[in-house]
Amino acid sequence: MRVLVTGAGGHLGQAVLARLRDDGVDVRATSRRSRTASDVQWVVVDLATGDGLAEAVAGVDAVLHLASSPRGKTPQVDVLGTRRLVVAAAAAGVQHLVYISIVGVDRVPIPYYRHKLAAEQVIAAGPVPWSVLRATQFHQFLDDMLATSARLGPVIGDRAVLAQPVDPGEVAARLAARLVAGPLGGIEEYGGPQVLRFDKAARAWREARGGRRPLLPVRIPGRLGRELRAGGLVTEALPRGVRTWADHLADTYGGTGQR
Ligand SMILES: NC(=O)c1ccc[n+]([C@@H]2O[C@H](COP(=O)([O-])OP(=O)(O)OC[C@H]3O[C@@H](n4cnc5c(N)ncnc54)[C@H](OP(=O)(O)O)[C@@H]3O)[C@@H](O)[C@H]2O)c1
Repeated sequence: MRVLVTGAGGHLGQAVLARLRDDGVDVRATSRRSRTASDVQWVVVDLATGDGLAEAVAGVDAVLHLASSPRGKTPQVDVLGTRRLVVAAAAAGVQHLVYISIVGVDRVPIPYYRHKLAAEQVIAAGPVPWSVLRATQFHQFLDDMLATSARLGPVIGDRAVLAQPVDPGEVAARLAARLVAGPLGGIEEYGGPQVLRFDKAARAWREARGGRRPLLPVRIPGRLGRELRAGGLVTEALPRGVRTWADHLADTYGGTGQR
């Protein structure tokens, strides 16, 4: 099977490339800049313009669509770019398009999520057999978010927001399994092993980094806050990942972390 991976140089993309390499899959990988590697054929694609797309999809059996632009050009890249990809994939006779989305895109009122949901709908309405995997937040995303919120001193956040961080390597394995299983024609969800309140996740993060910064609680207002506190970002779907937030903290910052 030859598989095209869009956004292959990103955080998840690197985990996916490692996984597919281990599985012996013939991979073509896209980036907006020219890259070389011995075991992957890199091609230059810009979803905002469609440049390089027709060549990228030629001769591939399946596409793992990971590319995204959360800031700036989201409608052009995530929605219109996905439409361009679907059209090109259909013309090239691609048999399966797998899209990575996010748990909560249909519930949590964040503009980026609205665009991810629209991209899901573009794929579902298109002619290429498809699957959508909605994953929860990756460990590194939560880590980066805490670092950003702590930039001014205290760790700022809504204590009662629920998160279910997941390991991107496990998401990559799930995507690889979906490729083997074939098109679902539907949406499946995948989350990390634990649902954590923001304050618990933040305390573990602070301890792992050896910091003493206080937690400065804020209450996210309106529907956004209500959805985040009610579990809009978490899923009961099984199976779940096994690598915990504490495992991530221990690997990243040393020590054993809190389990
Ligand atoms: N982060 C999370 O917690 C999380 C959770 C669930 C699902 N997801 C989804 O997983 C996917 C990957 O997330 P990630 O955190 O790995 O993102 P990431 O590191 O930002 O990678 C996204 C990649 O998209 C590519 N890209 C951006 N603009 C593009 C354009 N105009 N044309 C073509 N490619 C473009 C970039 O590749 P180049 O710069 O090489 O072109 C970038 O490496 C996204 O679809 C995201 O919504 C993320």
